[in-house]
Amino acid sequence: MAIRNIFQEGEPILRKRAREVEVFDARLHQLIDDMIETLHTSDGVGLAAPQVGICKRVVIIEPTEGDITEMVNPVIVSSSGSQIGLEGCLSVNSSKNGKVNRPSRLTVEYMDRFGNKKSMTATDWTARVICHETDHLDGILFIDKKIKEGKR
Ligand code: CO
Repeated sequence: MAIRNIFQEGEPILRKRAREVEVFDARLHQLIDDMIETLHTSDGVGLAAPQVGICKRVVIIEPTEGDITEMVNPVIVSSSGSQIGLEGCLSVNSSKNGKVNRPSRLTVEYMDRFGNKKSMTATDWTARVICHETDHLDGILFIDKKIKEGKR
């Protein structure tokens, strides 16, 4: 395993649409293992492959410490409700952390590293993390959706 560099806002790869994974091989497994190791060297709760310079539809989420889910080709198939909460990103300076409106409940379909189909229904914080990470696969950063707060 290896720790990978995390690309920062301004790098073009963070703004591209990532490609679907079609081959579930050792190279993919290496990528996912490296993403997990990289996440664990930071205080993040999720990481998307474009953040480590790989333009593929792969994310990992760890909404609760030690509870990692690997998602290949994730698609949010339904969502409902809304919640406003604070977000940050390992690719964005923490001075830009801010509030984002997200669904409060969603179902995501994805594949594991072996290509097995999976689905997860998530609420609240976990739903937020899934939205944030899957947005990365479409070149969207949370700062694009940040709620503008009035100056006082
Ligand atoms: Co992020």
